[in-house]
Amino acid sequence: MWLSSSSVGRKFVMALTGACLVLFVTFHCLMNAVAICWPAAYNSVCEFLGANWYALGASAILAILFIIHIIYAVMLTLQNRRARGNDRYLVSKRPKTVEWSSQNMFVLGVVILAFLVVHLIQFWAKMQLQEIRGVHDVIPPAAGTLFLQEAFSLVWTPIVYIIGFIALWFHFNHGFWSMFQSIGWDNTRWIPRLRTIGCWWASVVVVLFIAQAIVFTVRAHEDYYKTDPVLRLQYKEMLAPMFEKDFGPDAAQAIGMAPYDQAEQMVRGTYSQLKNPEAATYFANDPEYPARVATLERAVALFDYLEVAAPEPLEMEPANVANPTK
Ligand code: HEM
Repeated sequence: MWLSSSSVGRKFVMALTGACLVLFVTFHCLMNAVAICWPAAYNSVCEFLGANWYALGASAILAILFIIHIIYAVMLTLQNRRARGNDRYLVSKRPKTVEWSSQNMFVLGVVILAFLVVHLIQFWAKMQLQEIRGVHDVIPPAAGTLFLQEAFSLVWTPIVYIIGFIALWFHFNHGFWSMFQSIGWDNTRWIPRLRTIGCWWASVVVVLFIAQAIVFTVRAHEDYYKTDPVLRLQYKEMLAPMFEKDFGPDAAQAIGMAPYDQAEQMVRGTYSQLKNPEAATYFANDPEYPARVATLERAVALFDYLEVAAPEPLEMEPANVANPTK
């Protein structure tokens, strides 16, 4: 088939999949900007992009695009090496017209792929994948801001991300105009313009990603995502569906409507009542008892996770205690 057997066909596939990935990365960067300006709205977006047919369909298409882009990159690199044979190590000076990134597109792609593996383990595997598998962890899969908290409170996360973003800048910057060249738009007037557009586009996206990583890191170290009252109310509301399933609509409504502290007290109180040995004996034959205890356990674990040690009260100097105005 022309798309896989000829060099032009392969470059065309690289250009087409690359263009789709450029659009995805741009969209993703804008979505992260929502997490900066409106963290609660970001969680609603994460909920919308859960394990439903449209989000799963979009993820599958995206995965196919990434896989095709990578397979064709390997094919083109091998083909170029074969064409240059043993001489590839004899070339000590690159022609001036060949940029550094164009010579290193494959290596840059490998760095981005390594970043992507870490990134998907930190986010996608704990969000959409957990929902698909029906596995319940402490953090509800739609609580995107708590996964930001988890990831960016690790010292190495911003370092790995910034290395990935820098590789993305070089890869995107070169890939952008070269994809137009690959589809035959090799025109001396337009290629310099496309280079400028590509450079601006890549720079805006990458600068935004870096700024986001910095803001997420600062906020995670301040425990902002755990302590913000609006976000806390949202996390508590995420518990309502499981209470509806195991305790009925009234319990779900009570959890959903109650202020955070009151909901926490209700959950902890009911949990200690049900875990009491007398209750365990009393409900021994109730088939719903284990599921109810498991639901309460998950809710208690979330409240425990959100409990952040209060800062130590400031100790006053004895002289100031005696005369606080001094
Ligand atoms: C500060 C930087 C970034 C943050 C905070 C971030 C955050 C996230 C989050 C929260 C998800 C999970 C969405 C969900 O499953 O509902 C996700 C998925 C993903 N991210 Fe990122 N991301 C960042 C940068 C990037 C970059 C630079 C790339 C690509 C080079 C990327 C590629 C992906 C992919 C492929 C997915 C899977 C999408 C899917 O669900 O199908 N991310 N990201």
